[in-house]
Amino acid sequence: MRIDVIPVLTSVHPQDLTGKTVLVIDVLRATTTMLAALGSGSSCVVPVETVEEAWKLHTLGDVLGGERGCERIAGFDLGNSPLEYTPATVEGRRVILTTTNGTLALHKALQARHVAAASLLNGAACAEAALAWQRDVVILCAGTRGAFCLEDGLCAGQIVSHLLSSGSGSTLSICDFGRAMAACYTRHAGQLAEALEDSDNGRRLAGLGFRADLEYSARADTSRLVPVLSGAALVPLAEHQPMPF
Ligand code: MLT
Repeated sequence: MRIDVIPVLTSVHPQDLTGKTVLVIDVLRATTTMLAALGSGSSCVVPVETVEEAWKLHTLGDVLGGERGCERIAGFDLGNSPLEYTPATVEGRRVILTTTNGTLALHKALQARHVAAASLLNGAACAEAALAWQRDVVILCAGTRGAFCLEDGLCAGQIVSHLLSSGSGSTLSICDFGRAMAACYTRHAGQLAEALEDSDNGRRLAGLGFRADLEYSARADTSRLVPVLSGAALVPLAEHQPMPF
């Protein structure tokens, strides 16, 4: 099984993802927020590319969420902080989400066979799901406006580390960037919150008053939930689906 890590969403063409497993990462904060929404009992999360599409899709009872410039969009119910996606705000409701980079990255992967939203919170669970699907894997870091982000690279490294330490580790062919990110993750694994705080996006978010999001987003492997695309919506991977370990 081949494992490729793409540093930023602008470096990949959708047709390169056809038929593969794609793990999309936007640690700060889109994929962390998608996980939070489903973990709080949202019925599904629909990632859309534009604010206009979000309004068009919205029907009574839906939650409109997302950001531009990291701030809540005018008229929307929620922004892009995972801490806003509680049972009180989203339980039993469809969330329509648009963000600057994360939802674009998910749209790039629509031709893939399996698509999951990965974050530091569910890195191990995503690695296990990818192994179970038994297809070549692309780990797609969203980045920010065409630039690589440390936090996405750390999550890619976390997933590669889990893949390497699995029973199938010796049979995997992992790209050089993936190996570099695994080494980077090992270096920072004991202080992920600090690494996020020191990152460009971490400093930007802290400056905007979202420091608590950094600590939340750094809690590696605390969730077993894997949000997967089913049609146009992210839903939790069914628990009965067999896992290899
Ligand atoms: C994005 O999709 O660009 C991010 O999630 C931005 C943010 O942190 O709000």
